[in-house]
This record gives sequence, C-alpha cells and structure tokens, in this order.
Amino acid sequence: MRRISPVLQQDGVDPDLISLLKTILAACREIAFRVSQGELAGVLGSTLSENVQGETQKKLDVIANELLKEVILETGVVKAISSEEEDDIVPGNPHGRYLVTFDPLDGSSNTDINSLIGTIFSILPADPHKDASDASQFLQPGSAQVAAGYVLYGPSTMLALTTGKGTRLYTLDKTYGGFLLTAEQATIPKYTAEFAINMSNQRFWEAPMKNYIADLLKGKEGIRGKNYNMRWIAAMVGDVHRVLCRGGIFAYPRDLKDPSKPDKLRLMYEANPMSFLVEQAGGASSTGYQRIMEIIPTDIHQRVAVILGSKHEVETCVNYHRNSTAPVISD
Ligand code: F6P
Repeated sequence: MRRISPVLQQDGVDPDLISLLKTILAACREIAFRVSQGELAGVLGSTLSENVQGETQKKLDVIANELLKEVILETGVVKAISSEEEDDIVPGNPHGRYLVTFDPLDGSSNTDINSLIGTIFSILPADPHKDASDASQFLQPGSAQVAAGYVLYGPSTMLALTTGKGTRLYTLDKTYGGFLLTAEQATIPKYTAEFAINMSNQRFWEAPMKNYIADLLKGKEGIRGKNYNMRWIAAMVGDVHRVLCRGGIFAYPRDLKDPSKPDKLRLMYEANPMSFLVEQAGGASSTGYQRIMEIIPTDIHQRVAVILGSKHEVETCVNYHRNSTAPVISD
C-alpha cells in the first residue's frame, strides 16, 4: 500500500502543499490518539466557554483547535488560518502562499458517547496583495480550494483527501504511524435509496424539502417508486463518509426552529470542503438553490443549507426547489 507523499507527488501537487498536508495529518494523528484515550486522558466533557457560534466548547474542541493552530502556523507556508473555534482569523507568515480553514472536531457532541467525530480542513490560495490579518482574503468560493479533506476518528482512523484529482481514502496504519492509500478513487453511485437528515426538524423546513422527504417516505407506493432507508450519525463527517463509501443523500436544510439561525452548517469549515470531496467522487452538492462551491462568502463564519451526495438524488431534490426561488415556509 502506498504512503501519502508519493501519491500526492504523482498527482503533481506543489511540495509546499504536500508538507502542509503532512503537518495537518501529524496533528490529526495526535488528536486521534487523545480521542482514543477518552476518559483516561481526561479529555471528555465540556469547558465553561462558548465558541463564536454560541455553542458550548467541548474540551476536545479546544485541544484539537490548539494542536492544529500551532503546527499549521509553524509551517511557514500559511498566511492565515480561520477556525470554527476562533472568533477571528489568526495571521501567520505574511509571505505564506496558503490559507487554511478547519473545523477541529466536527460532531463533538458525539465525544461523550464514544461515537464518530472528525477533523475537516480546506486549503485556499493566499492573495499576495492582501494583509495576513485581513479576513476578507478568506472570502473565496469553494471552487478556489486547492485541497480539502477530513480525518474520521472511528473504529479505524481514516482520511478522505482531494487536491482536485479525485477523492482518495487512506487508513491510518498505527504500526508505522502514517496513512496508507486504501481506496484510489472514492466513487459515489449516481442512484441511491438511502437518506440522512435530522427528521425532528421536519415541521420547521421549507416547503420544497418537506415535499421531497414526504415523497421518499411514501416508498414504493409513491412517486419515487422505491423504499428508502434512513441513517443519521449526528456528525457530518460520519454521514459524509458513508456517502463517499456507498452513496446516499445527506441534507441539513434550512429550518425556522431558531429564526436567527436558519442554516446550521458552516460554509468554510464544513460545506465547502465536503462539497469538494463529494464532487470529486462523482457526487453533487447544493443548497437547493445554488451549487455550494459557487457561493461567494460574505463572512468567515457564514452558515448554509447543505444537500449533498448521489448525483441523481441531489438533482431530484434540487428540482423540488426549482419553482421556489425564495424560501417558502408552509405547514
Ligand atoms: O457541525 C454541526 C454538526 O455536528 C454536524 O456535524 C452534524 O451533521 C450536525 O451538527 C448534527 O446536527 P443535529 O444536532 O441537528 O443532529
């Protein structure tokens, strides 16, 4: 089995980017170790603080954020980072060629129940004309990403990575300490009969999503003509991993449960990197109204509706939205 560097070299990836990716993965290996120690390492439970998103921070959120921040800034090739756990961007080397955004620990409410969690990252080119402390340098569409990936801390620690030449899957070999290529090309089947959505929000969704899911639930007797199965891990990283492995549709649609936060997932830390991985595996990704990777961000902590996965299923869901350009909420 092949190690990461030769695979990336073969893909023609810039050596600075390879060393940045290897640094991120070194931090993820350390996070994987701390996660695996659980209660023994005293890393479970919450801190007394909230992040900029108004969510209580878990101890592991803080530990993972600090680990990643420190090593990424030390590489010297990074001009600034933006983390879900930091209020503002953190400047690095003014001459660095890359920007890194990351969600240090996605699905962190799963930490206390020993369930799936992961680290999601995205790498953008830095604009040499902008100041390292200028947050506007991050406001690039997802289509500008030069690399994106996640590390899933599960029964085995896995990496999904794209540099725009397909999506590859690697598995951490704990005997030698590095990631080995275990799937040359993840391929999401075009058709599926599996969906992932938090059904408890159903009454707060917009009409197109309500109608789409209602038709899936009608199964063989309904307009879709087949029975669908449902899965929900409550960690995007786990649900997207399943989609990359065997297809399906994952959605966190807009809802009006809390009208001040109609969208839940973060564009720069979750939606864009996952969309890049999914598209590079032959899938599709949309808000219902727009391809996610074409959104021009207005804020580093912006949230969006996400519908991604098997191409035909995502396109079908988007069709339900097509005649409704403005959000419509109905019972
Ligand atoms: O980042 C937020 C997140 O944890 C995602 O990873 C996950 O898909 C979602 O929230 C779970 O949401 P809910 O709490 O509604 O199940």
